[in-house]
Amino acid sequence: MYDASLNTSTVNQAAWFGANEQAVDDSVHLDVSGLSKTWNSSDYVLQDIDFSMQKGQSLALIGHNGSGKSTLLRCCLRLIEPSSGTIHLLDREITGKSRRHVRDTCAKVGFIFQRHNLVPRLSVLSNVIHGAQARKSGPRVWYQSFACTQDREEAMHHLDRVGLAHLAGRRADQLSGGESQRVAVARALMQQPQMMMADEPVASLDPQAGEEVMELFMSLLQEEGLTLLFVSHNMDHAMRYSKRIIGLKKGRIALDATTASENESSLHQLFE
Ligand SMILES: Nc1ncnc2c1ncn2[C@@H]1O[C@H](COP(=O)(O)OP(=O)(O)O)[C@@H](O)[C@H]1O
Ligand SMILES: [Mg+2]
Repeated sequence: MYDASLNTSTVNQAAWFGANEQAVDDSVHLDVSGLSKTWNSSDYVLQDIDFSMQKGQSLALIGHNGSGKSTLLRCCLRLIEPSSGTIHLLDREITGKSRRHVRDTCAKVGFIFQRHNLVPRLSVLSNVIHGAQARKSGPRVWYQSFACTQDREEAMHHLDRVGLAHLAGRRADQLSGGESQRVAVARALMQQPQMMMADEPVASLDPQAGEEVMELFMSLLQEEGLTLLFVSHNMDHAMRYSKRIIGLKKGRIALDATTASENESSLHQLFE
């Protein structure tokens, strides 16, 4: 189970990634090649983006507001249609096909937003069960009271994983920000994901809650072998919770480096 008592002072990057090292294997979970995006035919929001991620890797995406980070994440799941380039996700090309044909592949990626987007009036357990909608449809995945025993047990397992099983019956609008984001992670786990993408997942949380959510991601990498691509404006988080950092500047990759080769001040140069 997730240990909420862990805190930054007791957890250092070497500890996370030393243990995680073996989880990274040769299989490529995401490969982006020649990706470009224009909203109108002249202005590029993303231009010639190339990078790939191995299974179990953690990669931080940084850059100014408006540099294209969210657009890139969404293109990687075809939530936004790229203008050109190819994307292979979990060993399948997801570009050049109808969305219907790539839906199952994209469903294996949990997406965590800055705002958790829980349904406020529903229970925590119902919200987590909603994550199964990536795999199946119908009223059985709308409310916990309609859910089959297997889904309900699985949702409780994921709530336990994020340390919140005791809040299963609480309404989502009665949670703190940090609890809400951890429920959103449990909901994403209901997708049975192989990868997580997170767009500024802790930007609206207080520092302590933010640390807890980032540490939860790290434990998912370490214990479940998930791959993590996250956007952050927090250079300290980028340094401590990733092995590789990509910096975007005006829609192009301006930095692609291993975390070990960077320090916070070198990262800040990207913003000058
Ligand atoms: N739906 C849209 N239509 C037109 N322009 C957009 C749209 N979404 C984002 N943009 C523009 O694309 C650029 C990159 O945005 P975004 O990816 O959200 O940046 P970031 O996440 O790095 O702050 C910005 O200039 C933004 O205004
Ligand atoms: Mg953004």
